[in-house]
Amino acid sequence: MANVADTPALLRVDRLGAGYGKIRALHGVSLEVRAASIVCVLGANGAGKTTLMRALSGLLAVSEGTAVFDGQSIANVPAEALVRRGIVHVPQGRMVFAQLSVRENLMLGGYTRPASEVREHMDHVLGYFPRLKERIGSRAGTLSGGEQQMLAIARGLLAKPRLLMLDEPSMGVAPILKDAIFSTLRDIRDRERLTLLVVEQDADIALDISDEGYVIETGRVVMQGPAAELAGNEDVRRAYLGG
Ligand SMILES: Nc1ncnc2c1ncn2[C@@H]1O[C@H](COP(=O)(O)OP(=O)(O)OP(=O)(O)O)[C@@H](O)[C@H]1O
Ligand SMILES: [Mg+2]
Repeated sequence: MANVADTPALLRVDRLGAGYGKIRALHGVSLEVRAASIVCVLGANGAGKTTLMRALSGLLAVSEGTAVFDGQSIANVPAEALVRRGIVHVPQGRMVFAQLSVRENLMLGGYTRPASEVREHMDHVLGYFPRLKERIGSRAGTLSGGEQQMLAIARGLLAKPRLLMLDEPSMGVAPILKDAIFSTLRDIRDRERLTLLVVEQDADIALDISDEGYVIETGRVVMQGPAAELAGNEDVRRAYLGG
């Protein structure tokens, strides 16, 4: 069997630039995500994490550099086309439809596929999230922050992604559910061979489930390496792990 390190990258980002009008928020970010790996991008408020996610999911124009997914360019490709190619983005703040039920929110995740297929897949996905299964008929707005995050992730899975990008899944989630969510993400990767790109401020929990990590500051990669190495790195510990 081939060593993981020999696996070609599913996503390869090279000197990517993006911004808002005259404001440049990403300055030449390069990173690689191997198939079936978990990669985290760590950074403080305003570092450019969401900007990176948006540029990679077709929601924001790429002004320089390249992004190649499974051998094809994804820079400046419309978001919907990228979803069909298997790139699915779970946005920061979850964005569930509060007035719709859990089931209806989940159905929306599968909008690119036939409804009968989505219903079958939903049972499979709910196997990872028993709490959601219990609340399937409830309005999403009545779920806790952590449950809403689970819903957003499950909705993303129903689009049948090859690459799932998660923007701060720990945000606004109680500690006990945070652990549950992150271990579920690892479980999903292990069982489905799904590839995950996770941006986080909570470095501890993100590095714990990741294979590789990157640290960005003001739109630039300032550190990168195997997650275990970053978790033990003095500079990372001082800046992001409170020690
Ligand atoms: N719509 C916008 N218009 C102008 N500037 C923006 C916009 N969105 C973000 N920015 C700026 O771009 C930079 C990167 O922001 P971004 O939202 O990517 O950071 P982030 O790492 O996701 O932060 P957070 O952890 O707070 O979500 C910041 O300086 C921010 O002020
Ligand atoms: Mg953000």
